[in-house]
Amino acid sequence: MLKHWLKRFAYFTTVLAIVANVYIFTYPSLFPERCSWRCAAQRSSIDATESLSVFERAQFYGQRYLRDVKDQLLRGSVDSKAEENEPSDVHLLALGDPQIKGIWHNTPYLSRLDIFGNDYYLGHIFSMMKKRLNPTHVAVMGDLFSSQWIGDSEFYNRTMRYTSRIFKRNTSQLENKRKESHDSDGQYIIKWYDFADDLNARLQKEPKDFDFGYEDVHSWEPANEDYLFINLTGNHDIGYSGDATFQHMARFEHLFGKDNYWVEYDRDTDHPWRIVVLNSMLLEGPPLQQQLVDRTWEFLYRLFEQRFEGSTVLLTHVPFYKKPGLCADSELFRYYPHDFEREPYKKNLLRSQNHLSQETTRRVLNLIFDNNKPGIILTGHDHEGCETIYNKNEKAGDWTAAKAVNSTDFYVREITVRSMMGEFDGNAGLVTGHFNIKTKLWEWSFTLCPFSVQHIWWFTKVTTILSGFLLSVLVFM
Ligand SMILES: *[C@@H]1O[C@H](CO)[C@@H](O)[C@H](O)[C@H]1NC(C)=O
Ligand SMILES: *[C@@H]1O[C@H](CO)[C@@H](O)[C@H](O)[C@H]1NC(C)=O
Ligand SMILES: *[C@@H]1O[C@H](CO)[C@@H](O)[C@H](O)[C@H]1NC(C)=O
Repeated sequence: MLKHWLKRFAYFTTVLAIVANVYIFTYPSLFPERCSWRCAAQRSSIDATESLSVFERAQFYGQRYLRDVKDQLLRGSVDSKAEENEPSDVHLLALGDPQIKGIWHNTPYLSRLDIFGNDYYLGHIFSMMKKRLNPTHVAVMGDLFSSQWIGDSEFYNRTMRYTSRIFKRNTSQLENKRKESHDSDGQYIIKWYDFADDLNARLQKEPKDFDFGYEDVHSWEPANEDYLFINLTGNHDIGYSGDATFQHMARFEHLFGKDNYWVEYDRDTDHPWRIVVLNSMLLEGPPLQQQLVDRTWEFLYRLFEQRFEGSTVLLTHVPFYKKPGLCADSELFRYYPHDFEREPYKKNLLRSQNHLSQETTRRVLNLIFDNNKPGIILTGHDHEGCETIYNKNEKAGDWTAAKAVNSTDFYVREITVRSMMGEFDGNAGLVTGHFNIKTKLWEWSFTLCPFSVQHIWWFTKVTTILSGFLLSVLVFM
């Protein structure tokens, strides 16, 4: 009798486990257009299901799903290649605010399990996207971690989790960095005073001694990978400018690379374009360390002086100024009180911000999009996601955010990338850049590929383990 029921239960669990696994390993096929680069997606039909009955609709989506699953399995034969002598498309995968949490000695066991599982949930999204889409660039839009107020050792440990569990990258360089820079217990520690001395020395030289630019870099480690991995700073990684210390900036740079840089591609051709990575936490103030803000502005002036003639993809964490109602967040600036007793040295400094201010927005956009070549802005920070148009008034040098294009001079679209966290459905943003050889202009488009809340992923893991266990019990019974 027991065996009979056990058998039924085992089969039931197994069926659930199979269905759940098929789902999590084929979920992008449910939304083939949203989960493909633009040109590839255009081949499939646009949504013409409105006039169909429920049954016909189910049939339509079912067929579309199966067709995409088949295409994925037969990959290679269906990959579209750019026409000869046409510049190849840019395929940038943008991942919003993973915000991974840490485990402390008082963290309950269930939360520990949740944090552990969450790393692999995020890792699943990345590996699915990587395998399906083969991106040329991967950018994580800042807020890699959930708090800027952590010690160096915890910062290092989260970097290890970020690198190995989520992005499945080689950690040997990180281990070497710990070997070079640790305390007497062997825990990672950053020598931030060296960073501060170096920064001060560079700022004092005339011209200031910074190197912000790269050219035609397609991978930081061409031997190991064929895409460029970009880490952005977020307020949870380094703090807002009233918080950001030399220690914050030094360890970020040591483990994740520069906070401000550009990469120019194909500069001397008819199709130049560039990526601009901007640390938007260190533009405004009053800041704790003026030197860090000075360096960011120096970056923007140098960028302007490049007189670049091509298209720009701007990657930054904090969105640009907009009127309330256009996106989830509206403008909000908070400052530390003038009698802040806990940390008196922070009194009156910038505590947090939802947007850049109107004036900073104007200055930054004028410096970056000076050449009026089509571009796109990607930001993070608000988790919900949003799309806004910045309309330029060329004469006044002003930019106005709106839902629609209403400038005849120039406009640029800002995409606030929806977060990849489970609560926001595990999204991945897909930016396609296509060079139109007729107009001689780059065209940029964006789609958002959703997964599902983390519970579905957990359900899959639990049913898989349970069915494995039950089936093996049955074998031995
Ligand atoms: C970081 O990880 C190391 C090795 O697992 C551990 O000894 C150390 O205590 C961790 N640091 C923190 C702050 O938990
Ligand atoms: C990681 O990289 C190092 C050196 O760059 C190499 O020796 C090592 O085998 C790599 N590890 C893996 C797992 O690929
Ligand atoms: C960005 O972070 C990843 C993962 O830690 C690392 O492998 C990569 O080298 C970093 N990028 C740069 C430019 O340092």
